[in-house]
Amino acid sequence: MSEGIRDMVRETELSVKDLVYPIFVVPGQGVIQEVKLMPGVFRYSADMLPPVAKELKSLGIPAVLLFGVPEKKDSTASEAFSNDGAVQKAIATIKEAEPSLVVITDVCLCAYTDHGHCGLIKGGVVDNDSTLEVLAKVALSHAVAGADVVAPSDMMDGRVLAIRTALDESGYTNVSIMAYSAKYASAFYGPFREAADSAPKFGDRKTYQMDPANSDEAIREVGLDVEEGADIVMVKPALGYLDIIRRVKETFPVPVAAYSVSGEYAMIKAASAAGAIDEERAVLEVLTSIKRAGADMIITYFARDVARWLCTFL
Ligand code: PBG
Repeated sequence: MSEGIRDMVRETELSVKDLVYPIFVVPGQGVIQEVKLMPGVFRYSADMLPPVAKELKSLGIPAVLLFGVPEKKDSTASEAFSNDGAVQKAIATIKEAEPSLVVITDVCLCAYTDHGHCGLIKGGVVDNDSTLEVLAKVALSHAVAGADVVAPSDMMDGRVLAIRTALDESGYTNVSIMAYSAKYASAFYGPFREAADSAPKFGDRKTYQMDPANSDEAIREVGLDVEEGADIVMVKPALGYLDIIRRVKETFPVPVAAYSVSGEYAMIKAASAAGAIDEERAVLEVLTSIKRAGADMIITYFARDVARWLCTFL
């Protein structure tokens, strides 16, 4: 009958501490560019990030997830592991401006390859094993720049072990791995591919990302990553995959991250712009559902808004 009683018996509480804010980073200087399909989301050059880092910190958001959007693409994704790449610069800049903000970096080749796939191509198909060496180099370059956590999102088999080995051999034993373990071949990555300019130029990602119809396969994929040394495992997307989040949480004693992806963001933005739903209520409801399903942390483009909404609510 009252808000007070509901407060006392509420089972799930969304907290700003659960949130990870994704950021797109571009080369150059003085760049702040809105992503067309994602109103309110921007691409930044590294030099523009200190105020963003400070704002996130003051809002209580503990972590960022960085994505690089390079100038130059080639068949071997060479800019992905360049020491003065946009992401490497952004890591150093953020760590200098706000050392306690946790910096997580996406490790993938799709934005860096001229064909737009997440791995190297051999004989017209994505070649798993030669891709691992490149991913390990990328992860190491992020660790050298100061990343706290590296997050491989390519879905190649064996990448967690390859990255763990490369990090350990170079003395980066304290850099953690957040593995995109159960990543589905989803229609909901559309706006991200515009933001990161990473759509595949031929074919699709079905040979390495999972079939949305499968759930046992998610358990196998997560199991492999945990065995190989993943510290945090991820389910992606989030909203259509709450059952997977719950199953992973109940099966494995490791922290589970859920990625509420670009399409989930764009969908709520469009519906609220059309006057169909209330943005704040819809976002808080969806994120609470993701947490209720079992997620320990949520990657969301709404993180800044949510932090403000939770603040005024308190
Ligand atoms: C890279 C990657 C993708 C996303 C995160 N890392 C896109 C893809 O697989 O095409 C999607 C994130 C989002 O949609 O918000 N492999």
